[in-house]
Amino acid sequence: MANFNEIFDVWADNYDETVYSSDHEYKEVFENYEGILEEIAKYIRDKRDGITLEIGVGTGNLSKKLVENGHYVVGIEPSKKMRERAKSKLTKVVLLEGDFLNIPLYNKVDSIVASYAFHHLTLEEKRKALKLMDSLLKDGGKIVIADTMFISQSYKEKIIKEVEELNAVNLLNDLNREYYELIEDIVGLFKELNFFITLKQMNKFVWIIFAQKKEGGKDE
Ligand SMILES: C[S@@+](CC[C@H](N)C(=O)[O-])C[C@H]1O[C@@H](n2cnc3c(N)ncnc32)[C@H](O)[C@@H]1O
Repeated sequence: MANFNEIFDVWADNYDETVYSSDHEYKEVFENYEGILEEIAKYIRDKRDGITLEIGVGTGNLSKKLVENGHYVVGIEPSKKMRERAKSKLTKVVLLEGDFLNIPLYNKVDSIVASYAFHHLTLEEKRKALKLMDSLLKDGGKIVIADTMFISQSYKEKIIKEVEELNAVNLLNDLNREYYELIEDIVGLFKELNFFITLKQMNKFVWIIFAQKKEGGKDE
């Protein structure tokens, strides 16, 4: 698995400035950031008495919201600096070093959420990560993934071309270096498991996948 800790250790100090301001090349990616976190929180509101696992916590903005909604949150974050930033705003969250494929948890949880983080894994790693999440999730539990995804390869290429023309060098680098999937490929991974799925587009880049694990184990 590729390691992005160096990038996020450097970004940690001004990450919140990036997501909450609209004056930079990532502005369309983070457009409606707060609304995206809100939408995730809304979907798992019925699980607020239970345990929620957040993976790739970053500076802790989603976990903070979930704690305010009454969730007991366990957060996983590989970057030391990001964990430090998150700790400074989250008093009630258990924050652990780990990543999508290394989750130091032994009890099942009621929901699992990740925002702007799943794209750090290749498709095959995403398959492994979802299997691991599935094994950690109670029947009827929910997974919510918010991230940049594309409806088709040609649409992805069109967006990359636009980013190139805008000379948004950092964003272009990310789009070429990281693993932004087609929606059908991620949906395919969920279909290999036992989930009901719905999707919602939140801005030009970001979609949310809402998934609920069926009760009573696998279909035949
Ligand atoms: C763009 S930030 C998103 C932070 C936060 N979730 C948000 O929505 O603002 C991506 C986060 O994912 C973390 N990350 C990178 N690779 C990861 C991995 N393999 N497993 C879990 N988290 C990872 C980074 O350290 C970083 O904190």
